[in-house]
Amino acid sequence: MLRPFDLLLKLVKKGAEADIYLTSWNGHNSILKIRKKKDYRVNSLDTRIRTLRTIREAKMISETKSFGITTPLVYFVDEKECKMYLQFVRGKLVRDMPVKQIVKICKDIGKIVGILHKNGVMHGDLTTSNFILTMQGLVILDFGLSQKTDKVDDYAIDLRLFKEVLNSAHAQIVDESWASFIRGYKKILGSLLTDKVINQVLVIEKRGRYANVI
Ligand SMILES: Nc1ncnc2c1ncn2[C@@H]1O[C@H](COP(=O)(O)OP(=O)(O)O)[C@@H](O)[C@H]1O
Ligand SMILES: [Mg+2]
Repeated sequence: MLRPFDLLLKLVKKGAEADIYLTSWNGHNSILKIRKKKDYRVNSLDTRIRTLRTIREAKMISETKSFGITTPLVYFVDEKECKMYLQFVRGKLVRDMPVKQIVKICKDIGKIVGILHKNGVMHGDLTTSNFILTMQGLVILDFGLSQKTDKVDDYAIDLRLFKEVLNSAHAQIVDESWASFIRGYKKILGSLLTDKVINQVLVIEKRGRYANVI
């Protein structure tokens, strides 16, 4: 159910998983993220998944702040309705930035991802649409698929996804952006662990190719 006030809201994005609205919360510009019911899922399971992701996202957005990275403030969470109000982050989505800037910013993305991994958190959906560049620096969004983990394989899955996104959404700069990302990542995690994670990325890539052949 929407509050009467929500009638003033403006749809920003209709996603596969959630709808995003621009609205206001106690006088602040706010993003309302609502996880929609999926008709193809059994009702009880669907509710469980949406509730879990909403709670997990709100928790992780707040917890990861203590690592020293910037995420939006969580204003309010309604777990029953699977919706939450977040601080509206004013800035430019990295996905939409000029390619030269994306290459540069990938180093900062690498640092943020390095900080998450160093603290045992995998993001789960690393795309250039989940980073906003503001006057104060880079902000990371969208923790609905994040997880606490200390497995190198999980960190490699994060990196592999990001590399794939660069490959598909920013193909002309994939090599430079990937190198820039790794430079930032290595600054945080050091050479030893970074090499371990990159090796695992190669293993995953090989696995993928093999799976394609069969
Ligand atoms: N707090 C926010 N401030 C500004 N824009 C946001 C915020 N949260 C989400 N958005 C915008 O909405 C888009 C989708 O939000 P996101 O949380 O990534 O949901 P999805 O799970 O659908 O990817 C983002 O790429 C961004 O453009
Ligand atoms: Mg997203």
